[in-house]
Amino acid sequence: MHLSLRSSLRFPLSIFCGALLIGTLSGCKTPESASSNAASSEAGSSNSTTGNAASVAVSPAKPYEGETLIWGEFGSLTGDTATFGTSTHNALTMAIAEINAKGAPLGKKIELRTEDNGSQVSQVTSVVKKLIDQEGALVILGEVASSRSLAAAPICEAAGVPMLSPSSTNPKVTIGRKWIFRSCFIDSFQGKAMVKFARADLKAKTAAVLTNNGQDYSKGLSEVFAQEFKAAGGTIVSEQSYQDTDSDFRAQLTSLKAKNPDVIYIPDYYNKCGAIAGQARNLGLNQPLLGGDGWDSPKIFDIGKAAVNNTYFTNHYAPMDKNPVVAKFVTGYREKFGETPDALAACAYDAAYIMADAIKRAGGTDRDKIRDALASTKGFVGVTGTISINKDHNVTKPLAVLKIAGGKQEFVTVVSP
Ligand code: PHE
Repeated sequence: MHLSLRSSLRFPLSIFCGALLIGTLSGCKTPESASSNAASSEAGSSNSTTGNAASVAVSPAKPYEGETLIWGEFGSLTGDTATFGTSTHNALTMAIAEINAKGAPLGKKIELRTEDNGSQVSQVTSVVKKLIDQEGALVILGEVASSRSLAAAPICEAAGVPMLSPSSTNPKVTIGRKWIFRSCFIDSFQGKAMVKFARADLKAKTAAVLTNNGQDYSKGLSEVFAQEFKAAGGTIVSEQSYQDTDSDFRAQLTSLKAKNPDVIYIPDYYNKCGAIAGQARNLGLNQPLLGGDGWDSPKIFDIGKAAVNNTYFTNHYAPMDKNPVVAKFVTGYREKFGETPDALAACAYDAAYIMADAIKRAGGTDRDKIRDALASTKGFVGVTGTISINKDHNVTKPLAVLKIAGGKQEFVTVVSP
């Protein structure tokens, strides 16, 4: 394994209504959401695991008058993807403590208010509304899982509160929205990068795809992977799916085993992927399993054990990168929290600095100005690479491919856009 990452990893690397109804009962919208495919297309049941907004009245946020800068964070501190929310929260507190110590933007201390959504899409509406209406958040940070960012986005959009997702990669999160941003790459790139790697490095001619139909992230990545794999001359021999509540994947694995694919793409979160890897190996599927950033959690080893060896996944950074910006962050995080920071932590750390920088450049707490400053973020040198927010509120930067072997992550290569 090469510990010296190529330097390329980092360097190329309003409201008209008193209250707006978001969701199925949308009656009054901002011009932005009305003219986009935004809020209305995501309307649906609040119990769904995909990013559907509940029907809920959203009032415009009150002008900000706080003495401190209140940042609202919503995340999965408990539940299925608890390591995502926990790492994100750790890194946000670390970055905020550093920023406050160095001299906070506008001379006002940043104060983080955090709400746990229990890894549930159905909890998102109430926690985000609480952050805006009761805690009076100036801005919102979150979420990690795309379905949960998709549930929050229409609320922040209607309230006129800038929302920055550190790590949600599904393209729909920002599409057609004025107030929603992300500081990471998107899945059209992530899926394509894995195809490039599977075809060129693993010499895969055939692939099978296994999708969680209950997660926008999984559906989106599977679609890109299948499309790009075919476009690159490969053959998709089997496409299988399951529901978010499933825990037995043997029927799907048995049917794709009959097709003997060179690789199996499983773009889901660590809890499911660890379990799927275990069941796949038990059924004699020993080929490389491939995934996306959702694989990144120390818990995947507890769940999947040896079954997660011989797997590859795309990620936002490689903790073993020798680049000084990365090394400083990794050392600092380890000292504070006693573990190696995962990609969620790296992405959240960058997002905090990007938000602080935007507030500083906005020169005040007018949310319109903060939104415009976020939109004009250019060349920010972070842990996960150099970040410029483009006109679609997304970021283009290289990614890292990591391998799991011998029970640990190894850096494999960088894929540039
Ligand atoms: N990109 C994932 C999503 O959009 C979340 C994630 C990011 C998971 C980084 C792990 C690491 O749902």
